Amino acid sequence: MSTPLVPRRVAFVGAGRLGQTLARAWSASGVGVVAVASRSEQAATQLAGQLPGCLALPAAEAVAAADLVFLTVPDDAIATVAALLPWSARHSVVHCSGATELTALAPAAAAGAQIGGFHPLQIFSDPARAERLLAGSTVAIEVAAEAQDLSDELHAMARRLQMKPLQLPPGSRAAYHGAASFAASFLLSMLDEATQVWAQIGLPPEAALQALLPLAAGTLDAAAARGLAGALSGPISRGDTGVVGAHLHAFDALGAAHGQFYRELARRQLSLARASARLDEATLQGLGRLLESAP
Ligand SMILES: NC(=O)c1ccc[n+]([C@@H]2O[C@H](COP(=O)([O-])OP(=O)(O)OC[C@H]3O[C@@H](n4cnc5c(N)ncnc54)[C@H](OP(=O)(O)O)[C@@H]3O)[C@@H](O)[C@H]2O)c1
Repeated sequence: MSTPLVPRRVAFVGAGRLGQTLARAWSASGVGVVAVASRSEQAATQLAGQLPGCLALPAAEAVAAADLVFLTVPDDAIATVAALLPWSARHSVVHCSGATELTALAPAAAAGAQIGGFHPLQIFSDPARAERLLAGSTVAIEVAAEAQDLSDELHAMARRLQMKPLQLPPGSRAAYHGAASFAASFLLSMLDEATQVWAQIGLPPEAALQALLPLAAGTLDAAAARGLAGALSGPISRGDTGVVGAHLHAFDALGAAHGQFYRELARRQLSLARASARLDEATLQGLGRLLESAP
């Protein structure tokens, strides 16, 4: 079967943050989003009301009305919801979780449906804002081995939203998703550590975040322009061993957890400093010994 140029009738089960974002964006791009279901009728009605030609229906009826169904429910609900719905060989069933393997959709596959994953690498805390973030974001696509049609269709639907498709190797979702968290929520852990340390020396947390966010944004801009090693700045990149020693002293004095956190990240930074080839071997080894030294 060749790839449909116009996507088939699409339904969403789960009218939460991602469901709302994708349904609105695809509908606005001309995709026929024909049905929305959710746990609460109110959520489904509210979303369907924003989409031309779309009905709020119970999940089984939404499935019956569509060919391509996105399960945009919480990760833990995917397998349960997939097991309850009336699939057939006409259907393609896609979840949007990063970490959940496609096996969660096994009941749909057993009924002859094609199954896949469509995981946007973006955060959707505010659906109205998230819609503007879709263009330019990457989306990880995986389909079951025999579902080439669905793969083509999902790639085409990603391009409709100007998203960049990334083909995900089978069986790798937990590592893929855990690693992606370093570019998302773990960035917040880093800023949390900074604001905690500043609070301990008397700088107010609200002012801290305002002061640190432009620094974080500048660092990400540099990484986009020059790559990770090329963007590296700070005492490790310069081989300023005295400053690194002073940091360790200050962090150890604030508590063992602060010292450990700094050491672990600094060791990783040393690898980037090595890759940037700005420092001689003796300086790199000196920094390495300092970071291995006990508090
Ligand atoms: N948010 C993100 O940043 C993001 C990014 C990438 C991928 N994802 C993935 O997208 C999926 C949805 O996440 P989300 O953040 O959109 O979650 P969410 O905002 O909590 O929305 C989930 C929706 O699913 C509905 N729901 C829950 N259980 C259901 C059930 N048994 N049957 C039907 N509907 C049910 C809820 O309905 P009611 O509101 O009606 O109660 C809720 O609106 C997850 O797999 C997540 O990993 C999320």
